[in-house]
Amino acid sequence: MQAVSLFSGCGGSDAGVIANGFDVLMANDKLAYARDVYQANHPATDYVLGDVAKVKTFPAAQLLVGCYPCQGFSQGGVRQASSSLNTLYLEFARALGAIKPKAFVVENVSGMVRKNFAHLLQDQFKVFTEAGYRVKYQVLNAADYGVPQERRRILIVGVRDDLGVDYQFPEPTHGPGCEQPHATIRNAIGDLPEWPEGEFYAREFHWYYLSRDRRRGWDAISKTIVANPRHVPLHPMSPALVKLEHNVWKFETDARARRFSYREAARLQGFARDFIFPDTDAGSLDMRYKVAGNAVPPPLFEAVVKALPKVWD
Ligand SMILES: C[S@@+](CC[C@H](N)C(=O)[O-])C[C@H]1O[C@@H](n2cnc3c(N)ncnc32)[C@H](O)[C@@H]1O
Repeated sequence: MQAVSLFSGCGGSDAGVIANGFDVLMANDKLAYARDVYQANHPATDYVLGDVAKVKTFPAAQLLVGCYPCQGFSQGGVRQASSSLNTLYLEFARALGAIKPKAFVVENVSGMVRKNFAHLLQDQFKVFTEAGYRVKYQVLNAADYGVPQERRRILIVGVRDDLGVDYQFPEPTHGPGCEQPHATIRNAIGDLPEWPEGEFYAREFHWYYLSRDRRRGWDAISKTIVANPRHVPLHPMSPALVKLEHNVWKFETDARARRFSYREAARLQGFARDFIFPDTDAGSLDMRYKVAGNAVPPPLFEAVVKALPKVWD
């Protein structure tokens, strides 16, 4: 089974594809360090570095995956329904038309379901439907699929019309009513060193950081891991934050506090324990956080791909 991946980043979504037995023949992203990390972990994939618009040919594959960027919809970014970043799905649609895979899977931030972006979501549906696919979407929380993190994302899945089958999103596997409890911060990072010097963003906690509670305890699910290191949540050994007034919090004690390291962030995203961050020229601390925080949690993508109808022969 063969897949092509676009907007591949460091390979979070693709780790979930590979876990389902696919070979990812080609991946693409314009971020050099994302390429470096991806290749260190999945050397067999042909990783094309550069703007997707410049990719003229794609290999044949049964599955196409892609997580076009989300700045336009993201809670963290500026919400601009008109941003040119919001039309990169047309590049995805171009690849869909060229490859005509049996199925495709897209992940994006849940903000895409908001009213002011309805036209963009509708247009994606229109474009993918016109390309010959039965399309469905659902917002899923990564925590419900074994990821120790609250992360709600929209998943858009299409199955080629002629196959005559509908996609059903996977039921949660973790949490209340499931066989397994939600995974916790302790499960994910309890074995890692307390002060991994050089691996965490150590600048001060500015007023904006302290405008909300950024800490969860060891036995909780992590808050959402973001790509901007300044906004990464606190490690649970940091003192608790107490609310002083609306949008103003302070540490309960003067004990040392720190944000999660990039390696912890990757674990909390559900990456494998032996996931490699190579030391390359592009690998600044900020970049490490960025590729880890931008990624799709592999177990979430794995569950969504696993639920695809078995149409591969
Ligand atoms: C949400 S991230 C994808 C994360 C990835 N799927 C993963 O799981 O690791 C979106 C990616 O799109 C890439 N990107 C943005 N514009 C692009 C373009 N014009 N061409 C290629 N890649 C682009 C960004 O560099 C970023 O890595």
